[in-house]
Amino acid sequence: MKVLIIGARGMLGRDLQPLLSLGHEVVGMDLPELDITRPAQTHETIASLRPDVVINLAAVTDVDGCEAQKERAFAVNARGALHVAQGCAASGARLIHLSTDYVFDGTSPVPYTEETLPRPLNVYGESKLLGEKGVQETGENHLILRTAWLYGRQGKNFVDTILRLSSQQEEIRVVNDQRGSPTHTRDLSRAMELLIGREQRGILHVANSGSCTWFDFAGKILALKGPGDHPVRLLPISSAELGRAARRPANSVLDCSKFERIARWKMRSWEESLREYLA
Ligand SMILES: NC(=O)c1ccc[n+]([C@@H]2O[C@H](COP(=O)([O-])OP(=O)(O)OC[C@H]3O[C@@H](n4cnc5c(N)ncnc54)[C@H](OP(=O)(O)O)[C@@H]3O)[C@@H](O)[C@H]2O)c1
Repeated sequence: MKVLIIGARGMLGRDLQPLLSLGHEVVGMDLPELDITRPAQTHETIASLRPDVVINLAAVTDVDGCEAQKERAFAVNARGALHVAQGCAASGARLIHLSTDYVFDGTSPVPYTEETLPRPLNVYGESKLLGEKGVQETGENHLILRTAWLYGRQGKNFVDTILRLSSQQEEIRVVNDQRGSPTHTRDLSRAMELLIGREQRGILHVANSGSCTWFDFAGKILALKGPGDHPVRLLPISSAELGRAARRPANSVLDCSKFERIARWKMRSWEESLREYLA
């Protein structure tokens, strides 16, 4: 198949593109050569490349930054997604669009299914939810993948931040009142590879299995890394104490059982993936 990845030089794209290139003809695009906020350029690019599948990873992903740059967040995450969907509908391409656990408000005591009504708490989540709606209303042949707490070798991420801080500080304060599923971009790429040839439409939740708080995640990173030059103490704090610009859901764990039934494959636990990442 011919696959166009938009946002290909982001953290997920840098793992996804080489993997898909093993079995497909893949074209990767990103800023500056393709800007999805420009409708004509987006439509023309898709029309001229004539891909079978378009994978849209392009997004403004700085969750706190989106609060200050609301217009940019909506331009890319909402209207940009709509432009991609329009281009796909016009050229008959299937669209796989990436979305987020942050479309949920975090009040559910159980993991979120695809049927749960989204209610975002921040600008990033609102703009991504509007992006989903644009995709849903534009064409039938789409798959929206909601994932969570991504980390990958080729992007700024929580694991690398904790490792860096542990070499600089003796105490690290980490939020302990937000629960989610850390997901390795390599594992998500494998899941996407499985789904690319399937006819599945609608929304699917895809993340590594199990869940933890950011504090638990940091603890596991340090435990797996082993002792460094000096002892490091982790201090659990609340989101209020951290005082970030964007509110985040307290529980954004995704129920991935629909994906597991369709793919006949369960993503491994976040701990196992983290072990591989650190190795
Ligand atoms: N990271 C997470 O924890 C997480 C969690 C759940 C869902 N997701 C979703 O997963 C997808 C991939 O995430 P990621 O972590 O790989 O994000 P990322 O590293 O920020 O990559 C996104 C890419 O899109 C590009 N981009 C931004 N605006 C664009 C535009 N107008 N036109 C074309 N490209 C544009 C970015 O370029 P610049 O860097 O130059 O802006 C970047 O290369 C996104 O849809 C995100 O919402 C991410």
